[in-house]
Amino acid sequence: MSFEIGNLYRQHLPSPEKPWSGIPEFSFVGGNNDESNVPVAGLTEAAARVLQREGRRLAIYNLGGSPLGHEDLRVFVCDKLGIRAATNVEPDQVLITSGSLQALDLVNDLLLSPGDNVIVEEATYGGMLSRLQRLGVEVHGVRLDSDGVCPEHLRELLDRCVSDGRPAKYLYTIPTVQNPTGSCMPLERRLEILEVMGEYETAIFEDDCYADLLWGCTRPPTLWELDQANTRVIYCGSFSKSIAPALRVGYLIADSSILQQILSLKIDAGSGALEQMVVAEYAASHFDDHAEQLTSALRHKAEVMADAVEKHFGDSVEFMMPKGGIFMWLVFAEDVDTAEFSAEAARSGIEFNAGAGWSVDSHWGSNKMRLCFGNPTEDVIQEGVRRLSEIMDLS
Ligand SMILES: Cc1ncc(COP(=O)(O)O)c(C=O)c1O
Repeated sequence: MSFEIGNLYRQHLPSPEKPWSGIPEFSFVGGNNDESNVPVAGLTEAAARVLQREGRRLAIYNLGGSPLGHEDLRVFVCDKLGIRAATNVEPDQVLITSGSLQALDLVNDLLLSPGDNVIVEEATYGGMLSRLQRLGVEVHGVRLDSDGVCPEHLRELLDRCVSDGRPAKYLYTIPTVQNPTGSCMPLERRLEILEVMGEYETAIFEDDCYADLLWGCTRPPTLWELDQANTRVIYCGSFSKSIAPALRVGYLIADSSILQQILSLKIDAGSGALEQMVVAEYAASHFDDHAEQLTSALRHKAEVMADAVEKHFGDSVEFMMPKGGIFMWLVFAEDVDTAEFSAEAARSGIEFNAGAGWSVDSHWGSNKMRLCFGNPTEDVIQEGVRRLSEIMDLS
């Protein structure tokens, strides 16, 4: 009898992944960095130094320390937020995670059950949308303007969830370099959002994944800082975009009692300790210089992409210049469905994020597109945008 393990798979699995076929020539997807911007020399030196000094601690899970993660790294995260975002955090309010995706999973595990209501920005991180769909929760998209979440619409949605008998569990927001629009929520808007939220039994999940790569405005204090009680807001951040995504080092910040509960769900025996040690060692002396250099390289690439989009798409597209980060959000005429061009673009080696996958309402998102410029070189950006405009032929 032949054995078929597929018959034993549990129900409702997602479709299997397609075999990996490499990164296409013109890849405008994914939160990747550019090889030339990975600080290899600094990381090598940091790795050698920290391993010589403390390598034997790897003998014990969590380096023999707190399950919250490597203490030096948690202290660095606190210092970084203090200096860069006027945010006060104590090391026992920081949990190091395996990328901030693990932070998303932990917070969802803590708060969500199937059928719950959650509010997210109408255009938001596709990785969060797919998670929420898998969890079977009801997702409501709050309107965005150039300053981020619109308070009136937020109130409307919060009220709707209350009248439905299921107050929203959280508002998930990416206030600083919103993914995908690239906006940054100013201080006044942050205060307005907190004022609205103060009337509801709903948490805020603040994702600051790109906040260290901001160039278009001064960085406002985090919502976490502005929430005086520090209990409504759970915050996450990452070293993926500021150093390298393959490191898989992120962090979750919350009141220490919330973290103690989250620790009961983080049953992975600790996130990888070697990368935590290396990042802590490297970041202590190099983070600011490196982030400044990377931000200015990204700003330049954003300008290259904006010029290419204007040159090749002309009046057929509208976009807002991102305030930081690694992507642009393009809006085409209502009757354009960007997903229709994915297959032909792929045949020409071009990959982009169709707006539907980055939007709560896929119909609303269909005339939009996210283009990432973190990984491609300037030449690739120019040529890829030119080829894409030929494929879409909207002029
Ligand atoms: C808004 C946002 N949050 C979280 C993540 C996950 O990043 P990582 O797990 O690499 O820290 C991403 C990745 O692109 C993102 O865009």
